[in-house]
Amino acid sequence: MTHRPAWAPDGVDIERPAPARMYDFYLGGSHNFEADRRLAAQAMAVWPDSPHIARANRAFLRRAVTYASAQGIDQFLDLGSGIPTVGNVHEIAAALNPDARTVYVDSDPVAFAHSRNLLAATSNVVAVHADLRDLETVLKEARAFLDLHRPVAVLMFAVLHFVPDEDDPAGVVRAYWHATVPGSLLAVSHATNDYEPERLSEMEDVYRNATAGLTGRSHDRIAAMLGEYDLVPPGLVSMIEWRPDPDAGPDPLGGDVRRYSAYAAVGIRR
Ligand SMILES: C[S@@+](CC[C@H](N)C(=O)[O-])C[C@H]1O[C@@H](n2cnc3c(N)ncnc32)[C@H](O)[C@@H]1O
Repeated sequence: MTHRPAWAPDGVDIERPAPARMYDFYLGGSHNFEADRRLAAQAMAVWPDSPHIARANRAFLRRAVTYASAQGIDQFLDLGSGIPTVGNVHEIAAALNPDARTVYVDSDPVAFAHSRNLLAATSNVVAVHADLRDLETVLKEARAFLDLHRPVAVLMFAVLHFVPDEDDPAGVVRAYWHATVPGSLLAVSHATNDYEPERLSEMEDVYRNATAGLTGRSHDRIAAMLGEYDLVPPGLVSMIEWRPDPDAGPDPLGGDVRRYSAYAAVGIRR
């Protein structure tokens, strides 16, 4: 029988791999189970750059939150926030503005439990266990902590590709647009099948065995999802090309956008 770690939250099925815990594994974290590591190994056999992609996504997160803070935004709604790791949204935001408030939302029980435990002693941040498609629950919890009559940054880092086409990801983005006021902001990163369609499709096959499937999308499809927002320059571009940090060291994948196969954008709600 698989060993069940003492920290595993009640009710979590440790035999079912979950994207949150596979991602934690790519990032070198320890909040993953044997089944997560096995499926992550399969994913890395298909796409060995996965750990680099995860780190580049975290670097984009840092740049996007920094950008939002520089625009005067002090409220963050992080949808699909994941298992806490190095450089979390609330830490980046609070380092730039001590009054910044963050709501973390994740459907994964481990991501939620670990966030809640870590944040118990921290003010200005709460964790919510919810599916981002359940707008009513997310907004009820968000309103208890954020003032949605003021601008808020809605963050969807590496999560919309876990919303299948039949669940209308564009409609989900639009719903959050409607729930926020002008001056609010959306930051998105998303896997794409533009560069290596066959290999991305093999990744989709691997993730079919996880609690949420992966859907790579084209530049046009992702751009259409963000249609309500005014994208700030440089628009929807490869994740590593969105306002790169001039102080970052050399790109570990030689800046090869194909190997990252992910787009990123930040948009403003007018
Ligand atoms: C690849 S991780 C990204 C974590 C973090 N946003 C980041 O970029 O570092 C994707 C996260 O989205 C969560 N997720 C996937 N589908 C979700 C949904 N429908 N509602 C809420 N969270 C979801 C997963 O549980 C996981 O924690």
